[in-house]
Amino acid sequence: MRVVVAGATGLIGSRTVARLRDHGVEVVPVSRGEGVDVSTGQGLDRALRGAEVVVDVTDAPSRRQETSTAFFTTATGNVLKAAAAADVEHYVALSVVGADRIGSGYFRAKAAQEDLARHTTVPYSVVRATPFHESVEAAAAAGTRPDGVHVPPLSLRPVSADDVAAAVAHVAVGLPQFGVVETAGPEELRLEDLTAEVLNFLGRPGPVITDSLAPFFGAVLEERDLLPGPDARLGHHTFTQWLKSR
Ligand SMILES: NC(=O)c1ccc[n+]([C@@H]2O[C@H](COP(=O)([O-])OP(=O)(O)OC[C@H]3O[C@@H](n4cnc5c(N)ncnc54)[C@H](OP(=O)(O)O)[C@@H]3O)[C@@H](O)[C@H]2O)c1
Repeated sequence: MRVVVAGATGLIGSRTVARLRDHGVEVVPVSRGEGVDVSTGQGLDRALRGAEVVVDVTDAPSRRQETSTAFFTTATGNVLKAAAAADVEHYVALSVVGADRIGSGYFRAKAAQEDLARHTTVPYSVVRATPFHESVEAAAAAGTRPDGVHVPPLSLRPVSADDVAAAVAHVAVGLPQFGVVETAGPEELRLEDLTAEVLNFLGRPGPVITDSLAPFFGAVLEERDLLPGPDARLGHHTFTQWLKSR
């Protein structure tokens, strides 16, 4: 089996490449360093020649709604056009839990990507993941104000990059789902507690302020917006294990 991984140098892409190779799959890594640009389409036709599966784990340069929507609309359109031309049998996109119901910020961009996958002629699967462990630290950095770190009051199942890559690789070597599978972390936790844990770990303990107007991934969210459904595949690695392994 020949699988193209677009976004192969990224957090998830690099781990997905390793996982697929563990499965004995021939992997074609795609990134700008390999001469392939999903935004312009440059190099895609050549990279996809002879591929049975394309895994798309590219990411936008920003979490802002306009920038990320422009990226995913253009890049996904280019990848799907090249995949159809190359008679690819399975397109796998990595999306985010909540993309179908939130409707703003980065979630809007991921919903646009999912829509393109749903309407292509290429058989597809969408893997929706909950926020990665790394996102907690990013939210803390984005929410830092003079009086403390502002985070929204959210329940989360943060997931490790290794668990997400395992789920993506598993879907990629299986049959197209023509729909969505969800993957999530093993524990349901509060963002304010996770933030306090990260700040302590980084040696900068300080006030964590729950602020219902603080954005997460560019959107103002309801408390349970980011929780997966009951059928989500749960990963093994906890947030505390991840912090300790850094
Ligand atoms: N962060 C979260 O909590 C979360 C949760 C659920 C789902 N996701 C999804 O997970 C996916 C992967 O995220 P990640 O954190 O692994 O991303 P990342 O580490 O930022 O990696 C992004 C990858 O995309 C490639 N890329 C970007 N622009 C490109 C272009 N124009 N042409 C070719 N390649 C390009 C980069 O390669 P080069 O820069 O080397 O070209 C890199 O390999 C994203 O689609 C995201 O929506 C994220």
